[in-house]
Amino acid sequence: MTPITSIADLQELARRRVPKMFYDYADSGSYTEGTYRDNTDAFGRHKLRQRVAVNIDNRSLKTSMVGREVAMPVALAPVGMTGMQHADGEIAAALAAEAAGVPFTLSTMSVCSIEAVAEATTKPFWFQLYVMRDRGFIEALIKRAYAANCEALVLTLDLQILAQRHKDVKNGLSAPPKPTLANILNVGTKPRWLWNMAQTKNRTFGNIVGHAQGVQDMSSLSDWTSEQFDQSLDWSSIEWVKQRWDRKLILKGINDVEDAKIAADIGADAIIVSNHGGRQLDGAAAPIDLLAKIVDAVGDRIEVHLGSGIRSGQDIFKAIAIGAKSTYIGRAYIYGLGAMGQAGVTAALDVIRKELDVTMALCGESNIKDVGRHNLLDFEDRTNR
Ligand code: GLV
Repeated sequence: MTPITSIADLQELARRRVPKMFYDYADSGSYTEGTYRDNTDAFGRHKLRQRVAVNIDNRSLKTSMVGREVAMPVALAPVGMTGMQHADGEIAAALAAEAAGVPFTLSTMSVCSIEAVAEATTKPFWFQLYVMRDRGFIEALIKRAYAANCEALVLTLDLQILAQRHKDVKNGLSAPPKPTLANILNVGTKPRWLWNMAQTKNRTFGNIVGHAQGVQDMSSLSDWTSEQFDQSLDWSSIEWVKQRWDRKLILKGINDVEDAKIAADIGADAIIVSNHGGRQLDGAAAPIDLLAKIVDAVGDRIEVHLGSGIRSGQDIFKAIAIGAKSTYIGRAYIYGLGAMGQAGVTAALDVIRKELDVTMALCGESNIKDVGRHNLLDFEDRTNR
C-alpha cells in the first residue's frame, strides 16, 4: 500500500470504503457549503513567520485542556453516527485517542452507548450533550455520563434546529441505512464495511434507543429528534445543566464575541469556538478568523478552544499561535476511521502530530506553550481585513 502522508489520503480511502450515505454525512456542510469550505480555506490566509538558526532540539507539544494533561493540543470532537463510518467506530476512536494521549468526546448521537465505550476503554472520555425537551431523559443521560466516569461535559449550543445538508436528504440518511435500492447497491460495493458491521451489535443510536420514552427503534427516532431538540434552550438552560454536573463543563458552538462574554460570565471551564464544521449557519465566518477577537475578549477568564476546518498540524499551529489553548478535529479523524478503523484514527493523529511538530520547529519554537502571535506574519493586518 502506498504510505499515508496526509489527511487527504485518509479521506480518499474513506470515500472508497464507507457507504456513500455515511461518507457524505461527514463530508458535507449546510446549504451552499460556503461556510464549510471557508472554514478550511481561511487557515490558508493566515501566514506563519519562518525563523532560522534557533536551537529547536528537544521539542514538546504537551499542554493541558480543562486541567487534563494532553500529549498535544488536540481532542477528538463529537461526531454523530461515528459507529456507521466503521463498526464500533466510537470505541475504535476512543482507543486510538487513549493511545495518543488526547481526549475523545462521545456524541449524544453516537452508535456505541456511553456504557459500551466506558466498558471498552481504560481512560475517562468526554461526553457531548444536546439539550432536549424531555428533561427527564437528559437528566438520566447526564447521570449515565457521570456514572461512566466522563470527565467533562461538552454542551452543544448551536444545533437546536438542524440546518439542511442536501446530500443527507437525497441519500435518505438514517442509521441503519434505509434499504432503498440505491443504498443496497452502494453498500454491496463495500464488503469490508459490511463484514465488520456484521460482527457487532452496535448498529443504532445506543444512547437513545431503549432509553428515551417512545423511542424503541430507528423508525421512531427521526421524528423524536426533530420534535425533541429543545428550541427554547437559552442561557438559563445552561444553569440547569450546571446544577446537575459538578465536573468540567465545555460550551461548544460559540462563534461571536458577545456570546463568548456571556459564556465566560456563566462560569464554564472552556468554550469551543466553532460553527459546527460549517454544518449549521451557512454564511457564518470561519472560527479561525474570529478567534483573535474572542481570545482578546475572554481569554483571561476562560479557556478558548477551536474547532471547524482543521485538516493539518499547520492549521492547529495557527490556532494556537492566535491564542487558542487547544483544538478539536472531527472529519480529520473520521476519515481515518472510515479508511482503516482504529489504525486509521491512529494514522490521522500521527500525521497531525508530525505536521504540528515540524511546523513548530520551522517557526523556531521548541515548546508549544511558547507559541504565540509573534509566530504569525502581519497578524494584525490580516485579522482586521
Ligand atoms: C450533528 O451534530 C450534525 O452536525 O450532524
